[in-house]
Amino acid sequence: MSDSNAYIGLLKKVLLGLHNADAVEYKPLLPNTPSWRLKFLLAVHKILRIKKYAIVRSAEFDLEKRLNGIDWPAHADTMIGLKRLENIEFCFREVIKDNIPGDFIETGVWRGGSTIFMKALLKDSNINNRVVWVADSFEGLPKPDEKNILRIKEIHFIRLQTLLYQWKK
Ligand SMILES: C[S@@+](CC[C@H](N)C(=O)[O-])C[C@H]1O[C@@H](n2cnc3c(N)ncnc32)[C@H](O)[C@@H]1O
Repeated sequence: MSDSNAYIGLLKKVLLGLHNADAVEYKPLLPNTPSWRLKFLLAVHKILRIKKYAIVRSAEFDLEKRLNGIDWPAHADTMIGLKRLENIEFCFREVIKDNIPGDFIETGVWRGGSTIFMKALLKDSNINNRVVWVADSFEGLPKPDEKNILRIKEIHFIRLQTLLYQWKK
């Protein structure tokens, strides 16, 4: 294995948190699951937080879920899983191979793992004239109202058209 493959391979594992696979993860309570027990725990949690204590739930590491990007990692820098990381790598290499000009951007960065990965791919390929951009509202989607509901519909329509166009190609 070349140094480059070893570096990129190791980085993927670290970004996915696979180096901590044997550790129990402690995750926050999910406030969107309505139950009287949870409501009670959240109320206690709120009080404990003042003293810097927290109520958490423990979750066993599930390799299958992590590789498929369907769990919510407590510590890993990306939640997209190995398959989607590899898809980023595939797309990156295609862009470079085909000389497609431009920078890279991650829209919706969360903890930044995919951005770190793209930056590492650039560095590993000795490319210094492209930038990785990062964008996130950290607040989710704006609530639809009279003013922006049309705009949201328009965005979804454009996305659909683009997908259909790419699919037909
Ligand atoms: C599923 S996470 C992204 C996971 C990330 N790409 C990774 O590698 O783990 C979605 C991210 O998108 C952001 N987000 C959601 N809606 C957004 C919006 N309307 N504009 C900008 N960022 C948004 C969230 O704050 C969150 O960080």
